[in-house]
Amino acid sequence: DSLKYLKFERVGAGNDVALITLNRPQALNALCRELMVELSDLVLKIDSDSSFKVIVLTGSEKAFAAGADIKQMSELEFTDLLTGSYFQSWDTISKIRKPIIAAVNGFALGGGTELALMCDIVYAGEKAIFGQPEVTIGTIPGLGGTQRWPRFANKSVAMEVCLTGDKFNAVEAKTIGLVSKIFPVAELVQETIKLADRIAKNSPIIVQTVKKSVNLAYETTLAQGLQSEQHLFQQTFATNDRKEGMKSFAEKRQPNWTSS
Ligand code: HXC
Repeated sequence: DSLKYLKFERVGAGNDVALITLNRPQALNALCRELMVELSDLVLKIDSDSSFKVIVLTGSEKAFAAGADIKQMSELEFTDLLTGSYFQSWDTISKIRKPIIAAVNGFALGGGTELALMCDIVYAGEKAIFGQPEVTIGTIPGLGGTQRWPRFANKSVAMEVCLTGDKFNAVEAKTIGLVSKIFPVAELVQETIKLADRIAKNSPIIVQTVKKSVNLAYETTLAQGLQSEQHLFQQTFATNDRKEGMKSFAEKRQPNWTSS
């Protein structure tokens, strides 16, 4: 299929990592509706293709994504948002089963930061710049920012980020918990692919279960989350990969996963 706003490659040691690169350089990867539809369709296709185990999402060295397309948004009316399909494909990334890692170089502003927050892990390049500038253009974060910030950082940080629109760098992003590791700009994508490879070595069915269980922590109370974790833990005992994993340990050999 021909992609207009994205590049898509198969990478990784096991050739099972999907590398998606946002590719709208003239607008610093601003997220227009067409780009988001393309991204959503591609991510759903990869999620249901068992030859891929992990997704890496990146942009250019200058910009991960400079936010929703302000020129496109400025034409919209309240009723367009109510009746149109503007937001339909925007939260796909938060709903897929496979791990998706953001590799953020350059600007990740507004919807760009929120896109990173939707991913499971965020790695950043040294020159990454984050922020939720929506308040400075008369609106609020609309891709999850006001809800994910308080859950992933804390209230004071969430309020400061969303109320000021201030930009912040990779070190600050790591300090407040948005980013887990920082790398030199030119090494970021390769380092992120190495992380994807380490995840891809594990059983896909178990990896999917881990992701599901961790995500429950953001959706439920601790008591409900612990109970669900128990059920998911028990479920792993119904898989061949759980048997194979423990057997291979006892036999001092590498496991052969069948994802069954
Ligand atoms: C549309 C954008 C854009 C955006 C940049 N461009 N960001 N177009 N929407 N969000 C375009 C510029 O208009 C310009 O096009 C080209 O990209 C290069 O940008 P410059 O501004 O010339 O580059 P620079 O001076 O380096 O400044 C970079 C920047 C700045 C700091 C990232 O572009 C900026 O502040 N962008 C807007 C960031 C922002 O407010 N994002 C939040 C959007 S609201 P031309 O044609 O002039 O060359 C949002 C809501 C999410 O994200 C929720 C909705 C679902």
